[in-house]
Amino acid sequence: MNHGGISDFRSDTVTRPTEEMRRAMYEAEVGDDVLRDDPTVLKLEEMAAEKLGKEAALFVPSGTMGNTIAMKIAAEEGTEVLLEEKSHIYNFESGNISRLVGALPRPLPSKRGVIPLQVLQQNYHAGERLHIPSTKAISLENTHNYWGGAVLRPEYLQKVGEFSKEKGLHFHLDGARIFNAAVALGIPARELARPADSVMFCLSKGLSAPVGSLLVARKEFIEKALYVRKFLGGAMRQAGILAAAGIVALNKMVDRLAEDHSRAKKLAMGLSSIRGIEINPEEVETNIVIFRLRRMKVENFLEELKKDGILALGFGPSRVRMVLHKDLDDQDVEKALRSISRILS
Ligand SMILES: Cc1ncc(COP(=O)(O)O)c(C=O)c1O
Repeated sequence: MNHGGISDFRSDTVTRPTEEMRRAMYEAEVGDDVLRDDPTVLKLEEMAAEKLGKEAALFVPSGTMGNTIAMKIAAEEGTEVLLEEKSHIYNFESGNISRLVGALPRPLPSKRGVIPLQVLQQNYHAGERLHIPSTKAISLENTHNYWGGAVLRPEYLQKVGEFSKEKGLHFHLDGARIFNAAVALGIPARELARPADSVMFCLSKGLSAPVGSLLVARKEFIEKALYVRKFLGGAMRQAGILAAAGIVALNKMVDRLAEDHSRAKKLAMGLSSIRGIEINPEEVETNIVIFRLRRMKVENFLEELKKDGILALGFGPSRVRMVLHKDLDDQDVEKALRSISRILS
């Protein structure tokens, strides 16, 4: 089910809203969310807080804004945030931690998104020395985009949560795709969110809503978040139009993520039998497939794919990313495998 004959594997952000979302947007009851009387936004926030097992939630225009707000509250100028070296927040959010918070992001190595506890311990600074910024927060990503949609397990998150508590740190989870992680593990998202002090998740990725993300946390944290969102220009007026699609996303689009995961696996298995491609299909746990080209340049490969009506993304000098989502079906996967076999034969 592609659009205009194009099979778009670039990202799950390309998903179009469903008919039901468009209808809900048309019919949405709205108010002024800056004055906090848009009933549809308030309803979405309540649902989000409940699903993630937190006290409160705030609707924000983008995942980047949700993460930025969390960092702005959790850290402060001259302090430090521990995060994973390939994380979205460190690499792809315009340097927000240094530019808007004034804190030092300390990127740490990981095994597919999992920073060993010992590495966190070694990099923690209590502020005992004048010349070393004190650690204020830890941020992890689940699922992990760069690491091909890798899933962080609840046991690991629990340990990071305990460490954060022991040291008085804020533990933030960039859960842009937390529902993919939950569906892959067959557990409620709140089990993954429990050890974290704040979680950001996106409605506009695999859940297919047109716009929006949520920041969930304790009530006092979300009260502060309201001020930071305003300061960043993210307070919207009749935002219920957007929130209405988000409500449909949370009600209807979570369970179907399993389909994307099984198609991603199918794509990865198919790719693993094509010469010229390096991929371990076992590592594909959710909807993101990343592979390495052995001989062909990424730009040329993408150009050839495009000729067959297939879009993918270059992910570094020799890697390609293909993401499964609701606007791609089994035929799109077969078409992509046929095209890639032809290109690399
Ligand atoms: C893991 C992760 N976090 C955060 C974001 C930011 O979301 P947005 O594009 O809505 O700012 C993305 C976007 O792709 C992402 O993949």
